[in-house]
Amino acid sequence: MKVNGKALQTIWFEDAQNAVCTFDQRLLPHQLKVVALRNTDEVATAISEMWLRGAPLIGAAAAYGMYFAACEAHNQPDAAAYIAAKAAQLIATRPTAINLIWAVRRLQKAMQNHALAADKVVCAKAEAAQIVTEDIQICKQIGAHGLPIIEALSQQKQGATVNILTHCNAGWVACVDWGTATSPIYQAHDKGIKIHVWVDETRPRNQGAITAWELGQHGVPHTVITDNAGGLLMQRGMVDMCIVGTDRTTLNGDVCNKIGTYLKALAAHENKIPFYVALPSTTIDWELSSGSDIAIETRSARELTHIQGVTASGELQEVRILPENTAVLNYGFDVTPARYITALITERGVCAAKETAIRQLFGQ
Ligand code: MRU
Repeated sequence: MKVNGKALQTIWFEDAQNAVCTFDQRLLPHQLKVVALRNTDEVATAISEMWLRGAPLIGAAAAYGMYFAACEAHNQPDAAAYIAAKAAQLIATRPTAINLIWAVRRLQKAMQNHALAADKVVCAKAEAAQIVTEDIQICKQIGAHGLPIIEALSQQKQGATVNILTHCNAGWVACVDWGTATSPIYQAHDKGIKIHVWVDETRPRNQGAITAWELGQHGVPHTVITDNAGGLLMQRGMVDMCIVGTDRTTLNGDVCNKIGTYLKALAAHENKIPFYVALPSTTIDWELSSGSDIAIETRSARELTHIQGVTASGELQEVRILPENTAVLNYGFDVTPARYITALITERGVCAAKETAIRQLFGQ
């Protein structure tokens, strides 16, 4: 996608610095600042403190974290134990998005094929780069498969604007490029279909601000709404479809995504509005059969007690919004049962949120 007219990926490797680079998302949408991560600990911190976020991007970063682990293992008395410990450290950074575990395991498996430490390093770097390349293609394909859904709605409305509601940021910024939920949106917009996106603010971290920013960069008409506005909009016929991303989808089609997604799905169901989930197959948990078994991340109280914004003079500032010592509970994700999901949009095509349909699509 483009930022200020220039095509950018969210993650790339700089050989000269032996560093993986990304944007510090804590500063978005106000500042676009590149950060270079040079070792496993820095990657782990960047993931846990959400300098980068979004399931596919977390996976790509973790892959480079494993590459750094392979580099660092050179100086360790027990290289294998060191790599295993770094894998565990990375996996512990965020418990819900399965792309993290998937990427770490993929790198471990690839490295196991090599006995020499130097070969492990070369292989880990190539595998991490491959994950980045694959994610771009996967997200592009999600868009290609989601586009006909928006096209059909546009035809039903005889070319009138299709209003799409999304929650959190499942966009370009959360992936390497294109996004998952946003990929069909970008492709529909590029094809000249009239669309407008309702962007949920997505408290407490306001990922909706990032979605609004990236939609704006691409010229997609959009409006930010409070998290609680979606139900009213749906009742009043102002939403034609919902599309969200996911951090983990279990075999029965249950979808774990940013907290608040479930309530949107309930409102959509009640109002007979199609509710789609866009996902790469890397987000499918082939081992869990139900969303109730997913570990839900609980994040720091500070995300609720404080809020960040820019002052009139353009300075980033954080202020406290709750009384001191207020008790808070900050769950990061919720689970939408498969019965509320119209369909899953994947890189292989669109399927029902059901184990048989998922297995059929992916031949597993
Ligand atoms: O806590 P976050 O911001 O990492 O959560 C992100 C989401 O919930 C996204 O919707 C999800 O990762 C899908 S990303 C394409």
